[in-house]
Amino acid sequence: MTYGDSDIIICRCQELTKADILAAIRDGAETVNGVKKRTKACMGFCQGKTCEKLIERIVAEATGKDPAVLVPPTSRAPVRPVDIRVFLDTEDEQT
Ligand code: FES
Repeated sequence: MTYGDSDIIICRCQELTKADILAAIRDGAETVNGVKKRTKACMGFCQGKTCEKLIERIVAEATGKDPAVLVPPTSRAPVRPVDIRVFLDTEDEQT
């Protein structure tokens, strides 16, 4: 079995290959946000810390745009579980 360039995993969290990203671009995505909307790339546990720059480069290469002029994608802080007691008033815990 051989793997081509399009089999490379770009977004590990969402298990998306370069072929998936290129399919989103063929579907009309011209920005990283466009790819995100079509594939959920950058929406995994790391929130794009691993894949965002790779996707930006693929979009730039495929569309012929300078990466510096691409609209930066919207981003969210990584989500971590928080114990509900963090939000309780400490005085309420004693009653
Ligand atoms: S690698 Fe893409 S969201 Fe984590």
